[in-house]
Amino acid sequence: MIPGIAGDPRVYLDGAYTPLSQAKVSVLDRGFIFGDGVYEVVPAYGGKPFRVDQHLARLGRSLGRLRIAPPMDDAGWRGLVAELIRTCDAPDCLVYLQVTRGVAHRDHAFPSPAVAPTVFAMATPFVRPGREARERGLSVICIPDERWLHCDIKSVSLLGNVLARQQAADAGADEVIQLRDGRVTEGASSNVWVVRDGRLLAPPRDHLILEGIRYGLVAELAAAADIPFEARPIARDELAQAQEILLSSATREILPVVRMDGEPVGDGLPGPVYARLRAGYDARIAAL
Ligand code: PDD
Repeated sequence: MIPGIAGDPRVYLDGAYTPLSQAKVSVLDRGFIFGDGVYEVVPAYGGKPFRVDQHLARLGRSLGRLRIAPPMDDAGWRGLVAELIRTCDAPDCLVYLQVTRGVAHRDHAFPSPAVAPTVFAMATPFVRPGREARERGLSVICIPDERWLHCDIKSVSLLGNVLARQQAADAGADEVIQLRDGRVTEGASSNVWVVRDGRLLAPPRDHLILEGIRYGLVAELAAAADIPFEARPIARDELAQAQEILLSSATREILPVVRMDGEPVGDGLPGPVYARLRAGYDARIAAL
């Protein structure tokens, strides 16, 4: 029994499907030893993956940054995602894909010659954000961003993010908003959006944030809804004076933040920009 996992789902490991209880990786896997790997979380609705092209493109970019040769082509990834969704025991699921540099004698430098990457994938039931989160909103705390300077790589080395999220949990909040040098970066596992004077703002897509697949989507939804959007650095006092704050990620979709550091955001209720973007997001899912 693994906490949070029902039964013994079928997962994919290095070319074969196997029950989760049988899926084993060497203790010398560089993912285990060094966090030397990358991952993706692809949501699927009603049996169909959402924005899978964009997820696979980002996986390719992350692998490129780590100089890991792609273990399969796009058709291979697509087939794997489809097969995991097909056998997932829920209408909506989250497909997790992970590639590590593989198994080798422990040495910080890459194994030479390269070894076969370890590929692990699974689908788990996706419990979408419920009415409480969608209609009442989330709470956040602001914390300093103490992570490394390659946050644009979707790396499994997530200690900074893990410690940040735990700070939120310890404070009874749902998420953090991290700030580096007085500027907003992102949540522990989500992108941050700020509404000021009817304009939607987000931090620039640089090395200080992970460009979420929803980053591009929310920008598209804003354009479709005639909401002016600007990607630019956001200062701490702009955050404090925001009319609305939103978070986006595969698992949160798009959600309103109504409390920050114990104070209401705007009037303390989900706002009109959120409502329009949420409607757009739901319409994209319905159109899958
Ligand atoms: N996290 N920023 C960080 C640091 C993230 O970990 C994530 C997603 C995002 C949003 O990206 P996307 O829109 O592609 O989900 C931004 C995933 C969901 C996770 O680690 O579980």
